[in-house]
Amino acid sequence: MKQTAIIAPSILSANFATLGEEVTQVLKAGASMIHFDVMDNHFVPNLTIGPLVLSSLRKHGITADIDVHLMIEPVDRIIEDFAKAGATYISFHPEATPDVRKTIDLIKQHQMKVGLALNPDKPLENALEFLPDLDLLLLMSVFPGFGGQSFITDVLPKITEARQAIDALNKPIRLEVDGGIKADNIANVAKHGADTFVAGSAIFQADNYQTTINDMLKQIQG
Ligand code: DX5
Ligand code: ZN
Repeated sequence: MKQTAIIAPSILSANFATLGEEVTQVLKAGASMIHFDVMDNHFVPNLTIGPLVLSSLRKHGITADIDVHLMIEPVDRIIEDFAKAGATYISFHPEATPDVRKTIDLIKQHQMKVGLALNPDKPLENALEFLPDLDLLLLMSVFPGFGGQSFITDVLPKITEARQAIDALNKPIRLEVDGGIKADNIANVAKHGADTFVAGSAIFQADNYQTTINDMLKQIQG
């Protein structure tokens, strides 16, 4: 079933020197969840942040849901560290782990919500057998690695397909879309069935977080 539509700013495009303040500001401006991109210069050609930074955000007083998007390989060893750091959701790419079911179970054993992430060229079928066990399905609308890329419109039919698959299960599974989402295409992504919208550069490169997030929210609500 469709969940309340929310914006999850990706901190990949934030100023890391003032990260706590950046996160506080986007939450104040109407964002509901923080998207936390973890890259390892191996699974994807970029290197970002890990559990230490997440734990610092919690110590800074951030209580909002934190949606960790793992673009790393292997996955299993780091799960416990993210649980201790205070992650809410952990999403991973199925090709990054030898046993997808085992990784799902491990994340649940650590009391976190679990998501599976599909690259733009991966069919929905790759996630279907796991869908009933997920809290979130993450459909990438760019190839992971960098912020600021253009939305790949070929992904739109897969969003519709995923919406139907989730509705058929009648479970509270979030359908999240990540990559290239801006104020001028978010309405279309919502129309295709997404309820959780990641936006990095569109928010953090804007002069005014409040106006940008309000504008996006207006287009996805109702
Ligand atoms: C891409 C990341 C995204 C990225 C989105 O590898 O997974 O979360 O930060 O950034 P924008 O919104 O700029 O495409
Ligand atoms: Zn991401």
